Amino acid sequence: MADTAPEVVFHDRMLSLGLARVSEAAAMASAKLVGRGDEKAADQAAVNAMRDQLNLLDIKGVVVIGEGERDEAPMLFIGEEVGNGQGPDVDIALDPLEGTTLTAKDMPNALTVIAMAPRGTLLHAPDVYMDKLAIGPGYPKGVVSLDMSPAERVGALADARGCGQSDITVCVLERPRHEDMIAELRETGAAIRLITDGDVAGVIHCAEHEITGIDMYMGAGGAPEGVLAASALKCMGGQMWGRLLFRNDDERGRAKKAGIIDLDRIYSRDDMVTRDVIFAATGVTDGSILAGMKREPSYLETETLLMRSKTGSVRRMRYRNPVR
Ligand code: FBP
Repeated sequence: MADTAPEVVFHDRMLSLGLARVSEAAAMASAKLVGRGDEKAADQAAVNAMRDQLNLLDIKGVVVIGEGERDEAPMLFIGEEVGNGQGPDVDIALDPLEGTTLTAKDMPNALTVIAMAPRGTLLHAPDVYMDKLAIGPGYPKGVVSLDMSPAERVGALADARGCGQSDITVCVLERPRHEDMIAELRETGAAIRLITDGDVAGVIHCAEHEITGIDMYMGAGGAPEGVLAASALKCMGGQMWGRLLFRNDDERGRAKKAGIIDLDRIYSRDDMVTRDVIFAATGVTDGSILAGMKREPSYLETETLLMRSKTGSVRRMRYRNPVR
């Protein structure tokens, strides 16, 4: 994607509060479905609520990362116009429930996630896999790269941190496709935090090393989630790279339809999110970066992470909503 976006007035200070409400609403809608074994119902509840709240915002929004192509997703599909049509032109990237299985099984780190940026500035990532690599802030630019082997990345990061390889912890999605990578990482002596789902949270973990203990994220996950993760890291600091992975011609076709010409390109964080972005995520289940929802007979409480790349501000907002 070329950054040909015109300058738009992006009142991100005020819009960010609206974005937090959107994220909260999606989480609260799925509250009764946490741990109920029904992924679809939990996702649908979050989608409905996110869409309703989004349509109250003073924006002319277009969903660029959403629930799928128009013919696959009735709501929040790619290209859907959202907002009340009375504000700035913006791109929206969202995942109303990032970790549907985590939610259904009441496992850690399920989130609702949404990012907003001026129109034309978020990568239109197709629904394919992306090879991802992320580290937190404070390292020299390009200290690790997608072209290095997993072991080389551990070595380079340990040198940059001035620690031993065994002091590095890498977060990886537990999937058969990662078996070789995991074996190579084990050889280095690094610790591996395996997660069963939720790689947006996995990447965010790198930006809060002191809380999560994670130094680096690597491996293949959803490309749409890659853009959401890049949005978060742009606010928090940290470096990230992604390269689309294609298993067949249908997937290559999806990329071309999304306007991607160079299928082998390595995208940096700032290639995926070319200008300022605002990002909100609400904890659905308890996790290392956000508390999950607290359901009491008289109220429901949420915790939301709200961030702006322009200022690097990171807010954690607790919201208590009475249950009537
Ligand atoms: P869902 O919330 O859509 O279930 O996605 C969860 C997730 O774990 C993502 O965080 C990740 O990018 C992707 O699925 C990995 O895909 P796969 O399960 O096919 O390995």
